[in-house]
Amino acid sequence: MARILITSAIPYINGIKHLGNLVGSQLPADLFARYMRARGHEVMFICATDEHGTPAELAAAKAGKPVEEYCAEMHDVQAEIARGFRLSFDHFGRSSSQRNHRLTQHFAGRLAENGLIDEVLEKQVFSIDDNRFLPDRYITGTCPNCGNTSARGDQCEECTKQLDPTDLINPRSSISGSTNLEVRETKHLYLKQRALKDKLEAWIDSKTDWPILTTSIAKKWLNDGEGLQDRGITRDLYWGIPVKKGDQPWPGMEGKVFYVWFDAPIEYIAGTAEWADANGKDDSAWERWWRTDKGASDVTYYQFMGKDNVPFHTLSFPATILGSGEPWKMVDYLKSFNYLNYDGGQFSTSQGRGVFMDQALSILPADYWRWWLLSHAPESSDSEFTWENFQASVNKDLADVLGNLVSRVTKFATSKFGTTVPAGGHFGAQETALIADLGARIRDYETLMEQMEVRKAAAELRAIWVIGNEYLQSAAPWSVVKTDPEQAQAQIRLALNLIRVYAILSQPFIPDSAAAMMAAMGSTDWTWPADISDAMRALPAGAAFSVPENLFRKITDEERADWQTRFAGTRT
Ligand code: 2FM
Ligand code: ZN
Repeated sequence: MARILITSAIPYINGIKHLGNLVGSQLPADLFARYMRARGHEVMFICATDEHGTPAELAAAKAGKPVEEYCAEMHDVQAEIARGFRLSFDHFGRSSSQRNHRLTQHFAGRLAENGLIDEVLEKQVFSIDDNRFLPDRYITGTCPNCGNTSARGDQCEECTKQLDPTDLINPRSSISGSTNLEVRETKHLYLKQRALKDKLEAWIDSKTDWPILTTSIAKKWLNDGEGLQDRGITRDLYWGIPVKKGDQPWPGMEGKVFYVWFDAPIEYIAGTAEWADANGKDDSAWERWWRTDKGASDVTYYQFMGKDNVPFHTLSFPATILGSGEPWKMVDYLKSFNYLNYDGGQFSTSQGRGVFMDQALSILPADYWRWWLLSHAPESSDSEFTWENFQASVNKDLADVLGNLVSRVTKFATSKFGTTVPAGGHFGAQETALIADLGARIRDYETLMEQMEVRKAAAELRAIWVIGNEYLQSAAPWSVVKTDPEQAQAQIRLALNLIRVYAILSQPFIPDSAAAMMAAMGSTDWTWPADISDAMRALPAGAAFSVPENLFRKITDEERADWQTRFAGTRT
C-alpha cells in the first residue's frame, strides 16, 4: 500500500466556478484520488478556497458584505457544490484559516532568517479620495501595450500582458473611479527567487517524467528574458494574512498583508492541518504527509492545476519551500491542463460566460458532467464544450453503451430466471475469451489511470463497456434460452458479474451510477478486479439482484436546444 498525497489548485472565493475551472483541477484530481483509494492505497486529498487578495475584497464590496462574511458564505456555497459533484476531498479548507496564518508567517520568518527576503521601498499608486494604496486589481486604466481602456493593475485581460499598477495610462480607482491619485512610497518584502535559481533548476531538471506542458512553462519562466525575478510577497491591503516573522512582529510592515499567491499554496499544507484539527487528530497526523523528517519520505505527492497556475507551482511555491531550508515534502508529479472553451469562445468568470457548476447540477446529475468533462479533458491541447457533443457523448456512451447493457441484462434475467443469480451451465469458450480480453484491457486501464492520462483512460473504460455489449450481442442469451436454458443462465451469470466489475472500474468517473449498479447487484464488495477470472465469479449463484432505476436518460434535441439558448448569454 502506497501513500498518496493529492492537491487540487484551490479555487478563488469570488463566485461559483465554471466547468472549465472544474475540469482543469478539482475533477481530474478527484478521479485520481478515487482510483488510488480503489486500489487500496492510503490517500490524502486536499482542496480549499483561495480567499485573499483583491478579487475577494472587490467581490465582497460588490455583494455589499464585509469580506469575512462574504468569504465564509462563499466557502459554504463552494463546498456544497463540490459535494454535488461528488468531489471526494478529505478536507476542503480555507486559505484564511488560522492554520494558514501561522504556517504562512512561519515560512516568511524562515525565509528572512535565511537571508532570502529583501525589504524594498517602492512606488505604488495611492488614492487620496479612497485614502488607500491601490494594488493589483484595485486600479483600472489603459493598457500601454494594446490600448484596452479597462486593463487592471495586475494584468490586461485583452492582451494578457502582466502589468504593474504604475504602468497604466489614465489610471483610476476600481473602488471609487477617482482619478485623484498619486504615487507614494511604501515598503514591501521581496522573495529573492534569483538567489534560488540554481536550486530550482536542479529540482526541475530532476523531474524527468513530468509532462512537456509542465516543464516547458517552468523552463520558460526560469530562463526567458531577464530570467527569474525576485517577487513582491506583500501588499497594502486590509484582507489577508498579516505580515509577521513567525509569531513576531515585522517592524515597518505593520498593517500589511502577504500577497495572495504567497499564502495560497501554503494552504495545501495548512488544509491538511485543518483536516487533522477537524478530525480530532494531533500534529503528527498531518506532518506525516508533509514533513520528510516525520514520515512523509514515503509519500508520493501529485498536484493538479490549469496551465496558468504552473509557474506558481514550479517556481514560486518551490522557492518558498526550498528557501525555508526545512524538510517539507515537495511535489513529485504535477499534472497540468490546457483550457476548456465554451461553444466557440472562452469560459469567463468575469464575463459570466459558459456553464457554471451550480447551473450544471440544476439540469443534470453530476455523473453526466463528470463523464463528459473527463472524457474530453483538455490534456494535449485546448478542448471545446459544445451542447451537440455533450448530448452525443451522454446518449451514446452512458445511455446506449453502459446503461443499455445494465438494463437489458437485469430485465431479461428477472423475466426468465427471477431475481437471483442463475446457477445453471458453465462458462464456455466465448466467456473465457471475454474474460481474457477484459483482463488485458483492465491492465491497460490501470496503466493509463496511474499515468493520469485522463482522456485515454476514459476511452479505455468505454472500450471495456463496449466489449461487454459485443459479447451479449453475439452470445444472445435471449435466443439461447429457447434451446439451451442452462447455457443462457451461465451467460446471464457472467453478465451480472460484469455489471459489478463495471461498477468498480467506473466508480472513479461516475460514482453515483457505479453505486447504483453495485447496489442493484446486491453486493458491497468493491475489491478491485486484480484477478479478473475470480472477479467474474464473485456474485454467487442464488445471490439476489434487482433492476436499477433507469441509470441514464437520454438528452433530447429539445432540451439541448433549450440549454443552448439558456446558456448562450452571460450570467450576471
Ligand atoms: O487560479 C486560481 O484559481 C487560483 N486560486 C489557484 C491557486 S492554487 C494554489 F496555489 F493554491
Ligand atoms: Zn493590453
